[in-house]
Amino acid sequence: MPRKIIIDTDPGVDDTMAIFFALKSTALDVIGLTTIFGNVHTNLASTNAVRLMEIAGTPQIPVATGVANPLTRAFGGPVPFVHGDDGQGNIHLPPPQGKPIEQSAPEFIIEQIMSHPGEITLVPVGPLTNIAMALRLEPRITENVHEVVIMGGNALVPGNASPAAEANIRNDPEAADLVFGAPWPVTMVGLDVTHKVHMAPQHLDHYKTINNALAQHVARIVPHYRNYFESSFDMEGIYVHDSSAIAYVLDPTLFKTEQWPLRVETEGFSRGKTWPSIGKRTRPDWENRPLVNVCVEVDSPRLIDMEIAAMEA
Ligand code: BDR
Ligand code: CA
Repeated sequence: MPRKIIIDTDPGVDDTMAIFFALKSTALDVIGLTTIFGNVHTNLASTNAVRLMEIAGTPQIPVATGVANPLTRAFGGPVPFVHGDDGQGNIHLPPPQGKPIEQSAPEFIIEQIMSHPGEITLVPVGPLTNIAMALRLEPRITENVHEVVIMGGNALVPGNASPAAEANIRNDPEAADLVFGAPWPVTMVGLDVTHKVHMAPQHLDHYKTINNALAQHVARIVPHYRNYFESSFDMEGIYVHDSSAIAYVLDPTLFKTEQWPLRVETEGFSRGKTWPSIGKRTRPDWENRPLVNVCVEVDSPRLIDMEIAAMEA
């Protein structure tokens, strides 16, 4: 039986790559997309998610719109220099035919988890506000979810949205602190590993040669994203963020993990930094926090081969 997953997403170029990787993986059953601000505003994230389902030929997969702002502050705004004004590499697609469902993202997440106890894997690859809202509305989802695999955070390495913090967590640190503190099985696939997964120009160029609508769409949207990495990080190619979370769900043996309690800094210039408490000493602010499964090493070549093979299938 394929694993049922819900992807909570802010598409986003790498979100698009991750969603298509999941759709093309027969071991996964994508039962819905829920949307969130981050790379774009939430409404555009929903429009893009509906468009992506139409491009992929899976318009029956529901898209539920999430909240528009973080728990305690207004959204700081999208990142067109990374993902394009349209979140899709500035290719400016026509409007989709369909639309999101009426249910909100937190309602959809709760309904699906509670009606399929133990079966649903949540894969948030954007800020964690919808997941925190779902926890507040129905705390029993912690007992009924299969697991939560998050792209976000940085345990032992610098940030990307600031010197301290990774973008998804930085966009709503209060939500992230709630999600990492809830009593459920959480894996963090953060910059500790995603900055080690490097898709080189030849991999990206290879998408152009794959003869299906999903790979062709990726080939169209990736140049803008690639330019961002090349100009900002002085590198060729891209880091693989959101697809690394999908890869973890498919095959956790790609990663080495450590189990640490985590807190998220919510103040000052380190706002959004995920801090693990390492070692045996008891530290009051980390006391009674659950252990988070933190990815610290990754087999990058095998992960990239897996994603490209799925796209070719
Ligand atoms: C994360 O931030 C977003 O720009 C990407 O889609 C990814 O989810 C990486 O820090
Ligand atoms: Ca994302």
